Amino acid sequence: MTAMSAPRKLFVTTALPYANGNFHIGHIMEYIQADIWVRTQRMLGHEVNFVGADDTHGAPIMIAAEKAGKTPQQFVADIAAGRKPYLDGFHIAFDNWHSTDAPENHALAQQIYLDLKAAGLIETRVIEQFFDPEKNMFLPDRFIKGECPKCHAKDQYGDNCEVCGAVYAPTDLIEPFSALSGAKPVLKSSEHFFFKLSDPRCVAFLEEWTQDGRLQPEVANKVKEWFTVRTNPDGTQSEGLGDWDISRDAPYFGIEIPGAPGKYFYVWLDAPVGYLASLKNLLEKRGQSYEAYIADPALEQFHFIGKDIVTFHTLFWPAMLKFSGRKTPDSVFVHGFLTVNNGEKMSKSRGTGLDPLKYLSLGMNPEWLRYYLAAKLSARNEDIDFNRDDFMARVNADLIGKFVNIASRAAGFIHKRFGGQLGAVSADGDALLSHLQDAAPGVAELLAERDYGKALREIMLLADRVNEYVDQNKPWELAKQEGMEARLQDVCSACIEAFRLLTILLKPVLPALAAQVEGFVQAAPFTFDSARSLLGAGHRIQEYKHLMQRVDVKQLDALFEPPAAPEPEATVPGGEALAPTITIDDFAKIDLRIALIVNCEAVEGSTKLLRLTLDVGEGRHRNVFSGIASAYQPADLIGKHTVMVANLAPRKMKFGVSEGMVLAASHGDEKAQPGIYVLNPWPGATPGMRVR
Ligand code: 2FM
Ligand code: ZN
Repeated sequence: MTAMSAPRKLFVTTALPYANGNFHIGHIMEYIQADIWVRTQRMLGHEVNFVGADDTHGAPIMIAAEKAGKTPQQFVADIAAGRKPYLDGFHIAFDNWHSTDAPENHALAQQIYLDLKAAGLIETRVIEQFFDPEKNMFLPDRFIKGECPKCHAKDQYGDNCEVCGAVYAPTDLIEPFSALSGAKPVLKSSEHFFFKLSDPRCVAFLEEWTQDGRLQPEVANKVKEWFTVRTNPDGTQSEGLGDWDISRDAPYFGIEIPGAPGKYFYVWLDAPVGYLASLKNLLEKRGQSYEAYIADPALEQFHFIGKDIVTFHTLFWPAMLKFSGRKTPDSVFVHGFLTVNNGEKMSKSRGTGLDPLKYLSLGMNPEWLRYYLAAKLSARNEDIDFNRDDFMARVNADLIGKFVNIASRAAGFIHKRFGGQLGAVSADGDALLSHLQDAAPGVAELLAERDYGKALREIMLLADRVNEYVDQNKPWELAKQEGMEARLQDVCSACIEAFRLLTILLKPVLPALAAQVEGFVQAAPFTFDSARSLLGAGHRIQEYKHLMQRVDVKQLDALFEPPAAPEPEATVPGGEALAPTITIDDFAKIDLRIALIVNCEAVEGSTKLLRLTLDVGEGRHRNVFSGIASAYQPADLIGKHTVMVANLAPRKMKFGVSEGMVLAASHGDEKAQPGIYVLNPWPGATPGMRVR
């Protein structure tokens, strides 16, 4: 916060989440950590571009899309459409959110690959790969499971171990099995592309890059182990840096390898390139040049990531950038896992104990969570736990009790007794304010070093000082004493000034509250430099409006309430509870029409769907896909009438566009009571008639 020569130029990212599910609390924690840092840097006067994107490619997403009856593109677009409420809800202010399937990423990934090839670092080899003899396809790493070859943890995926973090080939797994069919996979050969990480140039570069002090010490130490070469009794070498298999065979949802038909980049090749693609997309939207921005030697690049993806970010990614002639990251900031109420770690694939949207829907303040997580976070790669009692204590006792209450205790007097005007602060108040001002640069420094927990402890110590001052001077008593008007204004003015200084320091953590305070004290948006001066005597403030509620234990009870147990069978009609009540107006929004099934046929490539051609009396036919192939032969349906939702938005599916939906009945528990029954009106109904 001292005067700076030139603002730093920072490019900041968080890890790109797989587009196969909504955010969980682990994602939100990482984004909050990065968002606080970005806001801190901006308050220090630096220029930041903070971007994210969906990590869209790979076999798991392709398989999930197929299960959902969608194209992978539609599948990931639907996931992307759900991101905003989380990001807005927790005040996570990415400058851009993009997708690794965007054209920028295809072009950048292909160019980086070509550059690596030109550098002599790409090699092809025929390898044996696991093939599922029941499913008739090469098995993606994530769909082969078995025992970790390094730590012997059971049930680990084929690409890396969630327990020890080792990265390996699926063929290294002990007792592998197909997660798709359970079958024992067989080996089949195929040509693969490799990035030669074992090339002495790469090894030399990475040994330097990972050990030159840019990484957190505990991360650098861990990475160091990966360079160790071990010679086995039979003379073969293992460990050390192995070459990296960067290709996958079709069918694969990904980016095609230039000049290699039917071959795609492994998702982890193009995923980090998505950082650059999102940046490029952002700059071009603003009419700025990506090439010029990224070529600036002053640009600094930082990635916030979790400890499970360190290998990708400290070996593969810097090497890809370096040997394709690009700028390498200045650092990678690694955080640990988050557990909830001492529960299991937040896995990417398993559920979590704290649903972020449920948190918001219960009216819980997002800044409570930001504050609490910040209080727990440090610059080290260590796990943290969300504990409900600790959360309530820290928010209610510290954030509200020590900080927010300072304003509520003083503002009323200033407003009612002095027309909102601050008065002169005498020596004791001045000493307090000087103490706060002197401490401010140190706190800003802690935030900039990502030592948030320590920064908040410092801020709370400062708040304690302010509260001692309040308790010594008791404005509520001064207010009752005659002739103490000036002292009351003096003390309350010092409190408001102090509250403003504390708010400046908390702004990266509590941006919404800080914005309210900026309005309340009638000041321009705070930077850390704002703490160098005071509002001063004569300055007018607005009427105080309550800034933050306390956490109510009932909210925590509701947040962690387990999902309702299933109703006893007898009370659940059709195996499914009744949907919430709607009004007749809600019902009227659904336009149900009688449709004639003009044609019906099987859909090649799908065992579930039938393609129906429907006449709804519009003078044209509609194409509708329906998941009823298990119940009907196409010929049995042709010429029959049925009921369709005629005003459903058309939906792009893998096999074409579906222009509506046919109504059919089924039991809630498909396994217990299988069967699908298409609705069929009484004779006499004709195409186009509305059902109401
Ligand atoms: O582990 C994950 O969730 C990955 N989707 C992270 C990718 S980070 C970057 F490389 F895109
Ligand atoms: Zn392991």
